[in-house]
Amino acid sequence: MNAYLFLRYPKMKVYIETLGCQMNRLDSELLVTLLQNRSHEIITARKSADVILYNTCSIRQHAEDKIYSRLGMDAKRKADGKEIIVGVLGCMVQREGVDLARRYSAVDILCSPGQLHKLPDMIDQATAADGLVTSFDPSRTQKHSHETKEQIARDAEAMDVVDASRDPEVMCETSQGFVRIMRGCDNFCTYCIVPFVRGPERSRRPEAITAEVRKLVDSGRSEITLIGQTVNSYKHKNGEATTRFSELLAMLAPIEGLRRLRFVTSHPVDFTADILQVMRDFSNICPYIHVPAQSGSGKILKAMNRGYTLQQYDDLITAARETIPNVVIVSDFIVGFPGETEQDHEASKDLIRRSEFKNSFIFKYSPRPGTISAKKLDDDVPEEVKKRRNNELLTVQKEVALKHHQQYVGQTVEVLVTGLSKRSRKQAPSSGPDGTVQLMGRTTGDHIVIFDAPAALTGKYVNVEITDANDLNLFGELCKTR
Ligand code: 5AD
Ligand code: SF4
Repeated sequence: MNAYLFLRYPKMKVYIETLGCQMNRLDSELLVTLLQNRSHEIITARKSADVILYNTCSIRQHAEDKIYSRLGMDAKRKADGKEIIVGVLGCMVQREGVDLARRYSAVDILCSPGQLHKLPDMIDQATAADGLVTSFDPSRTQKHSHETKEQIARDAEAMDVVDASRDPEVMCETSQGFVRIMRGCDNFCTYCIVPFVRGPERSRRPEAITAEVRKLVDSGRSEITLIGQTVNSYKHKNGEATTRFSELLAMLAPIEGLRRLRFVTSHPVDFTADILQVMRDFSNICPYIHVPAQSGSGKILKAMNRGYTLQQYDDLITAARETIPNVVIVSDFIVGFPGETEQDHEASKDLIRRSEFKNSFIFKYSPRPGTISAKKLDDDVPEEVKKRRNNELLTVQKEVALKHHQQYVGQTVEVLVTGLSKRSRKQAPSSGPDGTVQLMGRTTGDHIVIFDAPAALTGKYVNVEITDANDLNLFGELCKTR
């Protein structure tokens, strides 16, 4: 890019494509504010963009392949004379470094996950002169000097400041807001790239989190989701004082106007009894936990370095149901981890059945370069077997989910209306004689509820009597009195 383009496009049209987890989605939302503050325009039509940004995910090969194919297309468009700046952000950048730009000529900017606050300047740099513009997080595998450690802390704070000053009008949908409370992961599950690309665990200051939640609530966001790679391992030290996750929850829950407080994703090992007790004690903490099991086989859990036995996982589910009787539990599973036998696979099915998960996210094992399992273990489960096991776990989970959802038929549930249902969005919503359309919303247990009501109820809390259910949704009728 050159100065000419800079003059022609003082305000750039920026297209952002985001892959991956909640963390990435939040990062992209923060980028929107940063870029708008520089008067750039965020657009949804990729073809009209001056700047294309990919906020990438490295968790599985499939997510990376998608980006490689986009970068191939961008190279062709550039070769055809289209003047665009292409920026790759996030986990793939940290995993691959400058190699990514060497292999894909379209790339102008490489920006690691902890450096995103620098992106507006990096776009200016890329606009002003040809050549690759990069900003990487320090590598985790090297020993860091005191200065580097301080820099890591400053970079994290820089994004925290953005979190605190962000404009909720841009960031949040309806009445929901997301707040990051910690970053990184120190668990090193053998299959997982996250500790390498997202760096060490760092918890934000409780005062900064409280201020941000308060700000969001004051601006009308009554449902707040706390996010972190292993959100419940949150721990902040200040001199002698330590704030644990349960204490943070107890600080936030009394905030006036905070109607629902949620958190994702939890690690089973850190799900201590004090957290369950705080969830029980505050009625506005949602009875919903996402605690990935990953496998129902003790042998595989060990090979995955998950840090818990099957018995300990079962005990957690039992304790959760005893402490919070209406708790809704969601899990993740990986099928086809190296060495997984049919017996191990059957054990995962059993775990889904006895834990009665509302939902499980099921993934085929994907060896990630640099991880322990990729280095030391043979990816010995053939792709067809992974596919079959994936389908079988999905089938079992579907049966369990159907039963789970059916138990709500006949009950009245509180629903936060999030907007038009998928059906209404696809077809032009046809309103009924009294102006009703098909709406959707969420319960405190994160069930999707479909019902007919006036669209003006979007963002409001209503009561819905559940009349029917399938494995994914509850269906019901709006109760007259709220
Ligand atoms: N292959 C397949 N699935 C993975 N996950 C993490 N790493 C891998 C991998 N290498 C899954 C885990 C995790 C979820 C976010 O992604 O189930 O909980
Ligand atoms: Fe990955 Fe394990 Fe950390 Fe989760 S806890 S991010 S699976 S290393």
